[in-house]
Amino acid sequence: MKIPYAESFKIKMVEPIRRSTHEEREKWIKEAKYNLFGLRSDQVFIDLLTDSGSGAMSDRQWAAIMLGDESYAGSSSYFNMKKAIKAILGFDYFLPTHQGRAAENVLFSVLVKPENIVPGNSHFDTTKGHIEFRKARAVDCTIDEANNTQLEHPFKGNIDLDKLETVLRTYPKEQIPFICITVTCNTSGGQPVSMQNLKEVNTLAKKYDIPVLFDSARFAENAYFIKKREKGYEDKTIKEIVREMFQYADMMTMSSKKDAIVNIGGFIACRNEQLFKEAATFNIMFEGYITYGGMSGRDMNALAVGLDEGTEFDYLDTRIRQVAYLASKLDEYGIAYQRPAGGHAIFVDALKVLRNVSREEFPAQTLGIELYLESGIRSVEIGTILADRDPVTRENRYPQLELLRLAIPRRTYTNSHMDVIAASLKNVYERQDKITRGFRIIYEAPIMRHFTVELERL
Ligand code: F0G
Repeated sequence: MKIPYAESFKIKMVEPIRRSTHEEREKWIKEAKYNLFGLRSDQVFIDLLTDSGSGAMSDRQWAAIMLGDESYAGSSSYFNMKKAIKAILGFDYFLPTHQGRAAENVLFSVLVKPENIVPGNSHFDTTKGHIEFRKARAVDCTIDEANNTQLEHPFKGNIDLDKLETVLRTYPKEQIPFICITVTCNTSGGQPVSMQNLKEVNTLAKKYDIPVLFDSARFAENAYFIKKREKGYEDKTIKEIVREMFQYADMMTMSSKKDAIVNIGGFIACRNEQLFKEAATFNIMFEGYITYGGMSGRDMNALAVGLDEGTEFDYLDTRIRQVAYLASKLDEYGIAYQRPAGGHAIFVDALKVLRNVSREEFPAQTLGIELYLESGIRSVEIGTILADRDPVTRENRYPQLELLRLAIPRRTYTNSHMDVIAASLKNVYERQDKITRGFRIIYEAPIMRHFTVELERL
């Protein structure tokens, strides 16, 4: 008999989670104004709101926490982090920040000016936010295949080279501070970018003399997909693939709460000393002195270990197989999601699951609420509420896809939890004929409305 797969870790510490009743959940979600961000964590049974900072650290990381050096300047923890970044990613210069968006804030303070254009593959919300905040514009050059959830494509995070070149030809190079490649691409479904695409984008960038920035939150998951799906990489280690990937980047921003498997932290890394020096000034202003930048020594220590563990094949194999396991259950039940399954999450295609809810009534949000009511699972809408209103017309923007993201925290849940998630979605899917109405907004903030939006059932 073929020996089945099993996780590459055993569990040393546990945290109880509590089931609730349907009546309790009805009450709680109503009190939260039907905003899943408004729930208390103890009102949630399985929390798939995000994979950011919500994972479990290893015994090695906890040991490193105890050895954290809390000196204000020049701590050994800073040098541990520096060494890990050089060894794994190959960058000589780096600045710690308290998380990914802080890295964007510091670096973009140097690089992004009004009227600038930043092409990339479906920029993440905070990245786009930090670009637009500086009166610049993010241009999405992702391949069209990414917009068809049912189409199988190994690298749906890829940049369309024609779209990119059109941007590079249209605007003078002084107006394009960098090209931003997000690996893996969160917004298009945790989808990877191929090595070939990274290389081709880099060649194009050189031709037009424009630097390349990697938004690297899930770079290790990207490397895993390259190993699994791209010819010529089967026998390379994840660390070898990562080193090769970053040869095509001039600089990077990192949310360490993802692939460095820590609860808080981020950084900027680059090869250019002048850029480092300019960014260092903003780091001191916004984050902290250059050898801690908003992080404690213990957290920098855990991050250094996390970078090493996060780029080990066995860890990634366990993680991504778990996401794929959930996807296989959804296949069994006929539930549509962005195919193939992403690295950190499943993005359910809400328009194909709740066919009777009109787009004006927020089908992905409705699905998220139904899933919560079914069994206490918290997910997040990646649809019309997140897409916000057009800044000029103030009309709702309807994105091509209306998705519900089920983000899987690292090393946190077991496949039994995946079974509960899949069964709960199946139950909602089976009663979709009874779900004909969605929600109406009763309060919304002028920007980033999804965090605090208040809704009313129709
Ligand atoms: N870039 C990407 C691709 C991200 O997914 C995130 C965060 C950030 C940058 C910002 O990093 O949160 O550390 O400030 N994504 C989280 C998520 C919030 O749920 O996907 P941060």
